Amino acid sequence: MSAPTAPRRSRVLVTGAGSGIGAGIATVLAERGWRVAVNDVNADAAQQMAAALGGVAVPGNIGADPAAVVTAAARALGGLDALVNNAGIHRRAPLDRVRPDQLDDVYAVNLRAVVLASQAALAEFERAGGGAIVNLSSIATVTPQMDVGLYTATKAGVSAFTAQAAVEWGSRHVRVNAVAPGMTRTAMAEAVYADPVLHEQRRAMVPLGRIGTPTDIGAVVAFLLSDDAAYITGQTIVVDGGFTQTLIGLLPHPEPTQHGEPRPPQ
Ligand SMILES: NC(=O)c1ccc[n+]([C@@H]2O[C@H](COP(=O)([O-])OP(=O)(O)OC[C@H]3O[C@@H](n4cnc5c(N)ncnc54)[C@H](O)[C@@H]3O)[C@@H](O)[C@H]2O)c1
Repeated sequence: MSAPTAPRRSRVLVTGAGSGIGAGIATVLAERGWRVAVNDVNADAAQQMAAALGGVAVPGNIGADPAAVVTAAARALGGLDALVNNAGIHRRAPLDRVRPDQLDDVYAVNLRAVVLASQAALAEFERAGGGAIVNLSSIATVTPQMDVGLYTATKAGVSAFTAQAAVEWGSRHVRVNAVAPGMTRTAMAEAVYADPVLHEQRRAMVPLGRIGTPTDIGAVVAFLLSDDAAYITGQTIVVDGGFTQTLIGLLPHPEPTQHGEPRPPQ
C-alpha cells in the first residue's frame, strides 16, 4: 500500500514541535512533502527542528497569543492549509489541592489556545479554499491518571471541540479531527521510561508489545491531514497499541479448571 499522500496545497503549522510528539509529527509531515512551520515556546528547539526539516521556525508561547503564532506561520509559509494543535502541558496536583494558577496555565495551553489557533487558522483556510486541523487529545479522557489537575478535563474538551468544530466548519471545507495518544515516550513522561523496570512493566501491558513513539503519532496525523482522509471529520482516533482495550484482561479471574477448560466469560 502506498503511503498517505499530502494534498496539493501543503503548508502546515505544528505547535509545540521543538521536541516530543510534535517533533515526530513535524518530521513525518516534512518527509511526506509538507512545508512545516515549527512553533515552540523553546525558541532554540523551534529553530533547530525547522532547520533540520527545511521548514520555518515560529517561536512563541501558544498559550499567550495563539492568533499571532498562526498569523506569523501563514506569513512565513505564504498561506496555511493545515494546523496541528499539539502543544500540551501538565501541572501535577491532586484535585483537592490544584491551585487556580495551575488551572489557568493548563487551560490556556491545552484548550483555549486550541480554540483560538483554530479560529485564526480558519481565516487562513478560507483564503486557501479549505483546510484541515488535527488536535492532540489523550487516552486520559477514558482512563484518567491520578494527580494531573485539569489535564484530563482539557483533553476531553479538545475532543468535544473537535466534534463541534467539524460540525460548524464542514460546510467551509475544513475538516477537524483529533488523535488520542497512549503511552508515548517523550520528555513529558521520561522519568517513567528512563527506569528500565517501569518501562518493562508498562511495555508488557500493551497488546502490540511496545511503548509508542512520536512518529507513530505523526503517521496518523499525516493520514488525517491527507486527502486519503477526505471524508473523515469530527473523530478522535486512539493510537495506543491497544492499551485501552485491556481493562477486562486485568480483572481477577478464577484459575482454569483441572481439565484446562476455558475461563467463564465476564
Ligand atoms: N507523551 C504522551 O504519552 C502523551 C499521551 C497522550 C497525549 N499526549 C499529548 O501530546 C502532546 C505532546 O506531548 P509530548 O509528550 O510531546 O509533550 P512534551 O512535554 O514532551 O513536549 C511538548 C513540547 O511542546 C512545547 N511547549 C510546551 N508548552 C508550549 C507552549 N505554551 N507554546 C509552545 N510550545 C510549547 C515544549 O517546549 C515541548 O517542545 C500534548 O498535547 C500531550 O498532552 C502525550
